[in-house]
Amino acid sequence: MADPQRVGAGALRSVERILRARGMNPQALPAVDDFDERTIRRADERIPPRYREARADHPAVVKWLREVVAQAAPANPGASPQVTTGPSLLMAGVTGAGKTHQAYGALRALTHSGIAVRWEATTAADLYADLRPRTGNDTERILTRVTRVPVLILDDLGAARTSEWVEEITYRLINQRYNRMLPTLITTNLAIGDLRVGLGDRVASRLAEMTERATFEPVDRRRHCPAA
Ligand SMILES: Nc1ncnc2c1ncn2[C@@H]1O[C@H](COP(=O)(O)OP(=O)(O)OP(=O)(O)O)[C@@H](O)[C@H]1O
Ligand SMILES: [Mg+2]
Repeated sequence: MADPQRVGAGALRSVERILRARGMNPQALPAVDDFDERTIRRADERIPPRYREARADHPAVVKWLREVVAQAAPANPGASPQVTTGPSLLMAGVTGAGKTHQAYGALRALTHSGIAVRWEATTAADLYADLRPRTGNDTERILTRVTRVPVLILDDLGAARTSEWVEEITYRLINQRYNRMLPTLITTNLAIGDLRVGLGDRVASRLAEMTERATFEPVDRRRHCPAA
């Protein structure tokens, strides 16, 4: 695994460049030396190895990042700024286009920036599996965790076979995050116009209002790897 200190400093510099380019003040963030490197390391360790070096460079993702950073504010005077409210981002594209890569790249830029970020990441299918009622499974606690966490990656929305139960769970999740205006990075293989069919009108309507859009070239990067 990469040395978290070097990754942290490099990523912070790239966020600083973004902030300067957008006329924002990077000094508003704590210097990397002052930032708790253990926090960065813990965040990196939770990211799947495939995406641990991911960089967000899609223009819509960089814009989203800038907006979430701009809305970060300290809970108490003198504390690090933390993610509060912000737009969500809907990343739509074919399989292998790089959506999950951009989602984790954005998350890494946030966690390395000196902003305090509590986050969770799940595929929609894993979440539905976790929420299936079974003995000893506190599904309300699991749902509360993902509805309230400040930043959520919700990967592969619309990929699971739909049912009334899936629609209802998706509605409860999206509606809570919509009401709380919590930044959610959503990826989907569905064309944006097909979301209503796949997820129901109540979910699609909320997504239309709460999300910015990132579209991807229809290229499967898994099948078009540059020759080694
Ligand atoms: N900008 C990038 N630079 C380098 N590698 C990338 C980039 N974007 C994606 N990749 C790599 O391409 C592969 C596919 O990317 P990713 O998993 O993000 O696709 P996806 O759009 O989420 O696909 P799916 O819809 O099937 O989940 C991965 O190995 C990923 O690491
Ligand atoms: Mg993916």
